[in-house]
Amino acid sequence: MFRYAKYHITKTHGFCTENPGLGFLKSLEPHIALLKDQKSINPCSIRSLPMQKGIENLNYEELELSCLVHSMINSLYYWNSEIPNTVIPANIAKPTIKISKLLDRPPILTIVSTQFYNWDYIDYSKSFHPDNTKMMFSFSGTRDEDYFFTCANYIEYLGAPAVKSILELEDDIENPKKLRNHLITIGESLYSMKDSIKILRKNCDPEVFYFGFRNKLKGFDKGVIFEGEEPITMKLMGPSAVQSPLFKLIDAVLGISHNNPYLDFTEKFMKKQHRELINDIRKRDSSKLKEKVKQYDLQKEWNYVISECCEYRKIHTDLAVDYIIKPSNQNDAKGTGGSSLVEFLNNVIMTTKFHMIS
Ligand code: HEM
Repeated sequence: MFRYAKYHITKTHGFCTENPGLGFLKSLEPHIALLKDQKSINPCSIRSLPMQKGIENLNYEELELSCLVHSMINSLYYWNSEIPNTVIPANIAKPTIKISKLLDRPPILTIVSTQFYNWDYIDYSKSFHPDNTKMMFSFSGTRDEDYFFTCANYIEYLGAPAVKSILELEDDIENPKKLRNHLITIGESLYSMKDSIKILRKNCDPEVFYFGFRNKLKGFDKGVIFEGEEPITMKLMGPSAVQSPLFKLIDAVLGISHNNPYLDFTEKFMKKQHRELINDIRKRDSSKLKEKVKQYDLQKEWNYVISECCEYRKIHTDLAVDYIIKPSNQNDAKGTGGSSLVEFLNNVIMTTKFHMIS
């Protein structure tokens, strides 16, 4: 239990929060009212917001809500028109920087905010599923956007058994039966995640994604100044599931390294505690795990994990093509990270496949 709390993960939901995020805080009342009524959002209404006070006294959940609210407002301000407003006004900039320092995350929207702390149940008597969850704050107010993020949350949820097995695997490495079960659990977890991609495809229209809310998920590509604060020198990418800790964790336990500076860079945007978990798993000796797999004749189970991971990544590549390249009439072959999309994703699949044991 201690490890779950330390790394901010849960047995049921993995990296996603187990309970809905906070929806309200008195000191954020005007900000929340503005976000809920997007028609009245414009640079002027954002500049008129009061500055949130007492941030240093907030508890963790309140801090995450403040982060979500401020980072959404920043993105709406920055991408209000084709030419971005690169100077974030002090009333929003100062709290943003304070929150960023307290959370040890860059001052921009990340999946920690858009996904993990931004969901609610539709019906509290029903289960955690994209059909029964929605975003608390949304850019477009569409169900398509709800599904876009809740399906990604659902993937983290379906990955929870894999996370549990990854944590326990080290202690069970000398026990062939338990090791076998852990590998099967990780493979099955990956297999089940494909369902969430199906739900996403069915409920989120690629055109609504591409033309409706993707522009608000862009990074601060043209540079940004937080008024009255020290200059930010690092590049600030927008929220993307490429920041998902789950796949980085699975790679880490299997000893898969993609040697890709962009993927390394995306880790800066993860929750500090999730970053720490991945780094702790990377410190394990993955060659010892492979030796044990061979010693106990578990190659089939190991290769099952690798092939499910490749299969998931292939399905995800098709998704990226259908949601980015196609709606752009093939003009946009680059992802949110600016990489050549298909080549980048195919390289990740090839590196994963390379770890099959013959
Ligand atoms: C319509 C939905 C999606 C689109 C359009 C999409 C697009 C992309 C693109 C273009 C990349 C390449 C890197 C970049 O440019 O930033 C990428 C990488 C990645 N995406 Fe997605 N993605 C989607 C959904 C998801 C979901 C639901 C997950 C689940 C957690 C996910 C996890 C990842 C991961 C882990 C990577 C890094 C490569 C890897 O480890 O396989 N994506 N995605």
